[in-house]
Parts: sequence; C-alpha cells; structure tokens
Amino acid sequence: MRIAVYPGSFDPVTLGHLDIIERSSKIFDKVIVAVMYNRNKKPMFDVDERVELLKKSTLHLSNVEVDRHEGLLVDYLRNNDVRILVKGLRAISDFEAEFQMASVNQKLCREIETVFIMTRTDYMYLSSSIVKEVASFGGDITNFVNEEVKAAINIKLGGSNEHK
Ligand code: PNS
Repeated sequence: MRIAVYPGSFDPVTLGHLDIIERSSKIFDKVIVAVMYNRNKKPMFDVDERVELLKKSTLHLSNVEVDRHEGLLVDYLRNNDVRILVKGLRAISDFEAEFQMASVNQKLCREIETVFIMTRTDYMYLSSSIVKEVASFGGDITNFVNEEVKAAINIKLGGSNEHK
C-alpha cells in the first residue's frame, strides 16, 4: 500500500491545501495529513481546531486521515512506517525553502522521498497567512477557504468579518 504524508501548519486549511489533498488522494492509496506544531509561529487556531477543520473538510475523501505531530517530521514518518512526503509547490518563491526541507529530511532519513505537486494556478497566490490578513481587514475570503473555515475565522475575529 502506498501511503503518503502531507505535512503542514494548516492555520487554517485553505482551498489550495484541499486541492493538493484531493489530488494526492487519487495518486496514493492513503494520505495522512499531518498537522505540525510550530513553536516559532503564533497560530490563529490551536492544533485541535486545525485538525478538526481538516477532518470536516476531508470527510468526502475516504482514504484521507488527519493526524498531528510535535517534533521532527522524519520521526513521524519513521514511527508510522511511511516513506513518501507530499508537498504543494506554488510559484518560484516556495522552491528554495522546499528544496532545503526535502534535502534536510533526506539527510535525516535516506529512504524518504518528497513528491511535489504543483499548485493549480487558481491557488498559486494563496497562503494561510494571506487569508488571515485579508480576513482581519474585513475582506472577502470566499474564494480562498471553504464555508467551515470561513465561519471559524469569523468566530476568531469576533464576527468582524461578516462579509456578504
Ligand atoms: O505549512 P508550513 O508551515 O509551510 O509547513 C512546514 C512544515 C510544518 C512542514 C515544516 O516546518 C516541518 O516539517 N516542521 C517539522 C520540523 C522538522 O522536521 N524540521 C526539519 C525538516 S525541515
């Protein structure tokens, strides 16, 4: 069985992430979306909330699971006996950081292969940070996240983003 892990912060999950999850679920037998704790970032959603939003957003995908991990990604892969990492690759700006992470992960664990899926052009510009920024200024985020996530952001912002 070909199992892949799709790791990220997912703070919160965007339509760009969901596109990568859906497409990788067609390539692999099972996809585990791993929500990673990042001590350097101050998140809008805690890990439980991010996991919950991802679970709700992937209910229609029977071979997708959502999990969480604190620590090195390679340890998560080793513990779960997974060798394939899936990453979404947006415009050129992502390349350097992703190349570095893939190289480091392979140095830490030789068997790991990182598979990059090119983001659809519709989502090339999209990131969780940009969604949070637009929402915080009252902008419409309908084209960036699903209804569940939009509602959750609204609650976080105290209902100040009730854009029609
Ligand atoms: O969604 P993000 O924030 O771009 O995801 C980055 C993430 C969480 C995949 C990356 O920071 C990560 O793998 N963190 C775990 C710590 C780790 O293993 N670091 C060394 C390899 S780069």
